[in-house]
Amino acid sequence: MSTNTTSSPAPIVKRRADYQQPDFLIQTVDIHFELESHETIVTCSTTVTRNGKHDKPLVLDGEQLKLLSVKLDGKEQSDYLQDETSLTIHTLKNEFELTIQNQIDPKGNSSLEGLYQSSGAFCTQCEAEGFRKITYFLDRPDVLAKYQVTIVGDKTLYPYLLSNGNKVDSGELADNKHWVKWSDPFNKPCYLFALVAGDFDLLEDTFVTASNRSVKLELFVDKGKAERGYHALESLKKSMAWDETEFGLEYDLDIYMIVAVDFFNMGAMENKGLNVFNSKFVLANEQTATDEDFFNIEAVIGHEYFHNWTGNRITCRDWFQLSLKEGLTVFRDQQFSNDMSSPIVNRIKNVRIMREHQFAEDASAMSHPIRPDEVIEMNNFYTVTVYDKGAEVIRMLHTLLGKQGFRAGMDLYFQRFDGQAVTCDDFVQAMQDANNKDLTQFRRWYSQSGTPQVTVSDTYEQETGLYKIEFSQQTKPTFDQAEKLNLVIPMRFSLIDQNHNQQLNSVIEEQIVELTEQTQVIEFSNQSSKPVLSLLHDFCAPVKLNYAYSRSDLVALMLKSPDDFTRWDASQRVFSQCILQLADQGEITKTQSIKDTVAVFDQVINDANLDLALKTEMLTIPSFESLFQQVESVDVEQLRKSRLQLLEAFADTYQTQWFDLYKSIQIPKYEYTVEQVKQRKIRNLVLKYLAASQHQHAQSIIEQQFLTADNMTDSIGALAAAQLGDLAEFDSLMQQFEQKWQADPLVLDKWFALQANTDRADILARLELLMGHAQYTINNPNRVRALIGSFAFYNVSGFHNIDGSGYKFVADYLIKLNDINPQVASRMITPLIQWQKVDVKRQALMQHQLMRIGDTPGLSKDLYEKITKSLP
Ligand code: PHE
Ligand code: ZN
Repeated sequence: MSTNTTSSPAPIVKRRADYQQPDFLIQTVDIHFELESHETIVTCSTTVTRNGKHDKPLVLDGEQLKLLSVKLDGKEQSDYLQDETSLTIHTLKNEFELTIQNQIDPKGNSSLEGLYQSSGAFCTQCEAEGFRKITYFLDRPDVLAKYQVTIVGDKTLYPYLLSNGNKVDSGELADNKHWVKWSDPFNKPCYLFALVAGDFDLLEDTFVTASNRSVKLELFVDKGKAERGYHALESLKKSMAWDETEFGLEYDLDIYMIVAVDFFNMGAMENKGLNVFNSKFVLANEQTATDEDFFNIEAVIGHEYFHNWTGNRITCRDWFQLSLKEGLTVFRDQQFSNDMSSPIVNRIKNVRIMREHQFAEDASAMSHPIRPDEVIEMNNFYTVTVYDKGAEVIRMLHTLLGKQGFRAGMDLYFQRFDGQAVTCDDFVQAMQDANNKDLTQFRRWYSQSGTPQVTVSDTYEQETGLYKIEFSQQTKPTFDQAEKLNLVIPMRFSLIDQNHNQQLNSVIEEQIVELTEQTQVIEFSNQSSKPVLSLLHDFCAPVKLNYAYSRSDLVALMLKSPDDFTRWDASQRVFSQCILQLADQGEITKTQSIKDTVAVFDQVINDANLDLALKTEMLTIPSFESLFQQVESVDVEQLRKSRLQLLEAFADTYQTQWFDLYKSIQIPKYEYTVEQVKQRKIRNLVLKYLAASQHQHAQSIIEQQFLTADNMTDSIGALAAAQLGDLAEFDSLMQQFEQKWQADPLVLDKWFALQANTDRADILARLELLMGHAQYTINNPNRVRALIGSFAFYNVSGFHNIDGSGYKFVADYLIKLNDINPQVASRMITPLIQWQKVDVKRQALMQHQLMRIGDTPGLSKDLYEKITKSLP
């Protein structure tokens, strides 16, 4: 890309090491909104104090604001300096009241950051740096203030005027207007500010806390959607109860509000007392939502609720510390999900995100530690590394300190830091002090990026019965960091005695070894034969594990490991080994190796005692994305074909079993219960295999399921099976689905996604057509993610087409999206910047498209940062 072709200067890199306390603090905020779609007037009065002895001016952040007036202690000022991103006010006063009036254009705001309109309703999104699009302010998380908010708006259009805290006053005005005043008794940073105004259906409930306080729960959804809100409300009550029992944490206000909006960049936002949710994570009934949707809603509701303590009561000092609240809160929501549903399914879900997306990020030009050191655009760092690897780091602390030790650390953390804005180091220090455990080396997890590799080898001496295991660790250099140090890696494992093959018991109970050195050896004496090593229990560390498992070791682990995760992982290794070898083998060995691989699963399929959920997971062939992360470089087309080849052979071999399994599971009327979810999941998996094997009844079963399904899980299951089997009726079923759901964009997103990841030669023409669909709009992130995102992330044959057309399609789209919603554009560029592992020809094609995007006039900081990092 050519530099500086546009007028704006190159964006500035901010460094964690440069942190400085704020020059001024804000004690109170009294903010007033006159809501109008294009001309909202914001009047913000703050009490400001100088922080320390200095004579620096007050520099406020502000973007896209039309400044109307500045008053200092009531006196109109003209002595200020304004530029694109700031307002500088010269004063030598140490304490003063500042009143700023400005105008903004919510309807013209397509970035969905700051104050904007979502299907008519006003709503805000201020994390990370959106408050500066509302008014001039010290927009940083270590400036904590008490807020009073007054909202004025049209009574008919906006009967509900909401903000954080408690409603303290309200009244009527002329011209059909009304106003409401809110007051939040807790100090908060401006990123937790929220305002919502609109007309909604309201669901109400109450929750009585452990100390017997009654909390009002209010859920606001689009008119006519009330009956889709109950699952979210139930999930909220479960979350509130769970945080009390698990962490002794009670809710602290008298009211908790959740609003579902259609236009939202992310999943949801934890604004104090007033969460704003992407409607996708609120609205559900069995007709419109899959089991997975129900699961995700519960998890996201939990996540945002848990932020009230981990994020809101204790917040981040600066944005480099984002994982302080996000890693910890993801860990908490994962624990919550474990307690609400199948723990093993939940854990596998977490691990898949790590292996398919986080490992990919580590291997890319965007690699960064969970606490980044350098940032151009903060929105680019709401990543799987900060969130999910961050949660794995917390999980390792939990493993090292034990449940009680971890809880003691959490208690101390709240005791020390409640009401403050702190750092990741502060958190680890609390864990350290509460447990008297030196966590110096452990802290490297916060500063070091990359996926560590743990290599394991073992020896056994027949004569002495001595069994030795050698563990070694290595983290390869990453794009952002050349030098790597040894980490603290908790390794949970056990030994399985070969001689007691028929028993489920392992000889030695689970060990937890702390790997701290480059190499460590552990010995076990008196072993009557070489045991099978059952490693990485519960995915105890976010690492890649190298151990030369034999096929028979893996089979033993699949059937006998005491750890469910390791059982599943063994099954995935069996599949992966075969798929990865297929590429470079001759035809004969190929067929043989497929046969051998497939045969391994006979026992799993026929094991009547195996938990249905674990069985389903073990019988699931690894995704293309997870295979991709296991190799250094790869011909994507070959890998895709090898995977399909094994899948088809697997499907063929067990045709009869799939058929019987499908028939044997009869589910009564739909209920979202752990048991039914398991049953539907395995049925829909075997339905796919029936389709892939072109079973003679596949067509009719799929049609039957589609037509008689009383729930969305089974409707989508039928479509997905027809898609995989490339069955003739796929298109007609898709048409029926569209007919039925044409007025329901959230449901149609599932359909858009299925269309987008279908393997077909005319996929790009198909996408063009879909972009003209009545329900499609580039302005709604859910639509864009469903259609363009599904294609870029998951349509391997289309996106990686060797003629470069898939890359070009995505680039063209991102160039358009850059002007509309930079944040979403930047998330969607991920597959394009991950060119490191594909063949050179494709690499060149991908880089060419990155260059084209880079040359876009008015390129956002978001895309600029990713493109400059990823171009060689
Ligand atoms: N803080 C939100 C969460 O994780 C995510 C978010 C970030 C939402 C930025 C919007 C904007 O719960
Ligand atoms: Zn969060």
